[in-house]
Amino acid sequence: MVHLLTGNPMASPTTTSFSSAVSTAATILAAAAASVIFVILRRVRYRRLGLPPGNLGLPLIGETLQLIGAYKTENPEPFIDERVKRFGPVFTTHVFGEPTVFSADPETNRFVLQNEGKLFESSYPASICNLLGKHSLLLMKGGLHKRMHSLTMSFANSSIIKDHLMVDIDRLVRFNMDSWTGRILLMEEAKKITFELTVKQMMSFDPGEWSERLRKEYLLVIEGFFTLPLPLFSTTYRKAIKARGKVAEELTVVVRRRRAAEETKKDMLGALLAAEDGFSDEEIVDFLVALLVAGYETTSTIMTLAVKFLTETPLALSQLKEEHEEIRGKKMESESLQWSDYKSMPFTQCVVNETLRVANIISGVFRRTTTDVEIKGYTIPKGWKVFSSFRAVHLDPSHFKDARSFNPWRWKSDSVTTSPYNVFTPFGGGPRLCPGYELARVELSIFLHHLVTRFSWVPAEEDKLVFFPTTRTQKRYPIIVQHRDRS
Ligand code: HEM
Repeated sequence: MVHLLTGNPMASPTTTSFSSAVSTAATILAAAAASVIFVILRRVRYRRLGLPPGNLGLPLIGETLQLIGAYKTENPEPFIDERVKRFGPVFTTHVFGEPTVFSADPETNRFVLQNEGKLFESSYPASICNLLGKHSLLLMKGGLHKRMHSLTMSFANSSIIKDHLMVDIDRLVRFNMDSWTGRILLMEEAKKITFELTVKQMMSFDPGEWSERLRKEYLLVIEGFFTLPLPLFSTTYRKAIKARGKVAEELTVVVRRRRAAEETKKDMLGALLAAEDGFSDEEIVDFLVALLVAGYETTSTIMTLAVKFLTETPLALSQLKEEHEEIRGKKMESESLQWSDYKSMPFTQCVVNETLRVANIISGVFRRTTTDVEIKGYTIPKGWKVFSSFRAVHLDPSHFKDARSFNPWRWKSDSVTTSPYNVFTPFGGGPRLCPGYELARVELSIFLHHLVTRFSWVPAEEDKLVFFPTTRTQKRYPIIVQHRDRS
């Protein structure tokens, strides 16, 4: 046996391969034993800490592969359902390199959202922070966050939308749809619309060469957000960081010019430049970049999915058309929608709610505990990650009857017995409540209005919904559109 251990050159090939097989098997066995011991010790330690029950999966990768595998399909629900059934609505798992407490419980989610800045703070991986920029609203904390959040809210509130933003939303949606003919990729078109809207709202630029160039760079930045879980090894991520630099350069030029100019404009940039204590150029640029990120992918995905769900639910589509035909019937062909029109679209709001509920584009939010936190009889230690899942609540049959199907009528006030609004949080809540929630609703409603009154359409081919890395349809929802004859 000596040569087995010393690598004797006189050993025969058969003996050598036998010895190496034995040593490989021994290594595998030792590794397996070490993993089992590690898993047992970890379970004992976490139980002693008073954490919610759960399964932490394999060392390092935890349950990440199961989660990604589930979210890459049309039906990721079993990942959550199985764990809720086994451990209850608050359980411990291990995803994206860290042990995480997962909440599928609306009360816990509300507690987490409301205690932002006290017991919890928002938490993003370093790779995402680099793309957002350190002064982005999503990363800000404390007093500065409060100030910037209310400034953003004040810019996107109902009266500003009514008096200033609505006219441009209507005009730009119509302008984009003018060129629609034959086969289009709806997701791409919706993205173009939301990008142009955001650029207009932020800094008063109409669509043109500059905004299209910015959009191309921007698409690369967005790609970088979805290179998890190992972004630093990805060329897509490196390209995204480079593109982020270019976007920031372009925006810096705009900010400097506007600072130097005498005139003030009634847009987001104007509000930032006029703010009392003042913001540096870098702070403003980071803020604008993050605003584009927050409003772009979200609103355009909901636009696309609303159309997909409506196409698959003809009764809902025909009721929606009726509502919009009635509004359009009282107007000239090219007359803009007014705030009063938006307010007379009750069924549209049901469709928007139901799309937000079923699609769950922001499926939940990550937070980190800033101290030991007691929840539902468990203790979550300081520094731990918590994931408040909106998706799990929105698709839970104990909160929404027949929860997994698209049923906009459930939102009709006369059909609601216990208000689903209590557990419906597509825009989050607490101090980080989405400041664009009303703006997104208005954009969606105007988009649907012009779509159903101007076009009929059929899907160009079958397309599936997937939920990783984001909620999207696999083929960007190709449809064939036809202008409706309104005579
Ligand atoms: C359907 C469309 C949208 C959905 C579903 C959505 C959802 C959300 C959610 C869930 C959050 C909370 C994140 C957290 O708590 O960590 C959030 C935050 C945010 N949203 Fe939206 N959003 C949408 C559209 C928009 C639009 C159009 C804007 C542009 C004004 C916007 C700007 C923001 C910003 C700046 C934040 C960060 C707030 C903060 O951290 O204080 N969102 N959004």
